Amino acid sequence: MSNLELLVTGDGSHSLINRELDETYHSRHGAVQESNHVFIRQGFDLLDLPSVRILEIGFGTGLNAWLTWQAAASRKMVVQYDTLETQPLASGIWKSLNYAAEGRQVDFQRIHEAAWGTPVVLDSFFSLHKREVSLLSCVLPESTYHVVYFDAFAPNKQPEMWAQPVLAKIAQAMRPDGVFVTYCAKGQVKRDLRSSGFDVEAVPGPPGKREMIRAIKR
Ligand SMILES: C[S@@+](CC[C@H](N)C(=O)[O-])C[C@H]1O[C@@H](n2cnc3c(N)ncnc32)[C@H](O)[C@@H]1O
Repeated sequence: MSNLELLVTGDGSHSLINRELDETYHSRHGAVQESNHVFIRQGFDLLDLPSVRILEIGFGTGLNAWLTWQAAASRKMVVQYDTLETQPLASGIWKSLNYAAEGRQVDFQRIHEAAWGTPVVLDSFFSLHKREVSLLSCVLPESTYHVVYFDAFAPNKQPEMWAQPVLAKIAQAMRPDGVFVTYCAKGQVKRDLRSSGFDVEAVPGPPGKREMIRAIKR
């Protein structure tokens, strides 16, 4: 864990830098701002269902999970949230993050303290299944997810995560019309998503980024 350092982003919220990869967990322009835009507004908010299954690639700081729990409660939607992570954070790191500094600290703590490897019901709107596995080797259920938050490190840092067969593996885990969102806007990723069974569009990105990808499973 010593390769991780705390970073204050442009909106005042924290992120982490992985020194080994020289890569941040979120946009330097604003971590909370980016997560809210890319995953909640461009992904979760598209759904109009009483109950949804979400898959996140890269649990990291837990920010996306925490924002999704809040969105689910405010829209009264029941969310089963599965998330994959190979390098869970030590408690000393997640406790230093300022996302929940004002109120809701308890919820953020409950997300991190939830057991790994089993689904945990956090309230009537939000169940969390944190899996300490690699996307590259794990087995995913078929035709299950309504939304995928693809929040891997960037393609130039971890190209294996964005390889076409990996995107095809995600596609088979999604329901028809399921929504795949990522902060990335690379042309090669768009082409590989198309050949993996998605309709792909470039939509406006968060502040500091012109575009991001949203793809709909055909
Ligand atoms: C961009 S960060 C994720 C940010 C996170 N969603 C958040 O809100 O903090 C990428 C994450 O992917 C994780 N990761 C790296 N390789 C992985 C793999 N093969 N399978 C699953 N997760 C992986 C990293 O440890 C890191 O936490």
